[in-house]
Amino acid sequence: MGRAFQTLVFASFNAGKVREVAALLAGLPVRLVGPREVGVGSLPEETGQTFLDNAILKAAHVFRETRLPALADDSGLEVRALGGAPGVHSARYGGREHDDAANIARLLRDLHGVTDRRGRFVCHAVLVGPAAVLGDATVRIDGVTRVAAHPLVPPGAAAVLAIGEVAGRVVDTPAGDNGFGYDPVFFRDDLGRTFAQLTRDEKNALSHRGQAFRRLKAFLEETVLGRA
Ligand code: IMP
Repeated sequence: MGRAFQTLVFASFNAGKVREVAALLAGLPVRLVGPREVGVGSLPEETGQTFLDNAILKAAHVFRETRLPALADDSGLEVRALGGAPGVHSARYGGREHDDAANIARLLRDLHGVTDRRGRFVCHAVLVGPAAVLGDATVRIDGVTRVAAHPLVPPGAAAVLAIGEVAGRVVDTPAGDNGFGYDPVFFRDDLGRTFAQLTRDEKNALSHRGQAFRRLKAFLEETVLGRA
């Protein structure tokens, strides 16, 4: 059963993210590769309305092209007082894609005078693979679910979703140089620091992406690789 999962493709061209996910999945008896290593030169645009759709778009594309099991994730910041915004628009909230300073500036403008500044980072990580392997695997890990019939999952494939979430609040004054995105304004009261003031290991232990990929790892270990 595990043979189908000797190679796992992580559907991202973001080298930093690939390294982060490789570290989170370390110890699995699989070879984790990027899209280029298996001849996939581009990924679809993230046009979905949900984190799940965007993650499936990317993983399903790689599976369709290579027939190899593929992982992908989509994540963002959801702020209560803004009805869940920036949400799926997190990367381009301030205008241009991945302009972190503009994204933070827009967020702080939107929250001007707002006292409830609670928010959370959310990550949806999916695994798309052959239905013959994933189709009847039992899911027993907390936070991991099978994706029921979904229009973006290709014929012959099945998908599993792992969700990670971490709560905090948005502060007005950016602090810290680590991390990326909204980290400098995402504050944890229990730590007295923003995410940008945490080391990479401290952030991974807590973060939405860390949780989601640790959950997928547990699912792979228990179910597909049969090592539990
Ligand atoms: P992606 O889908 O993981 O690439 O994330 C989309 C956007 O959400 C990023 O460009 C960031 O603006 C924001 N985001 C996601 N994860 C984080 C995080 O861990 N820290 C800060 N911002 C994040």
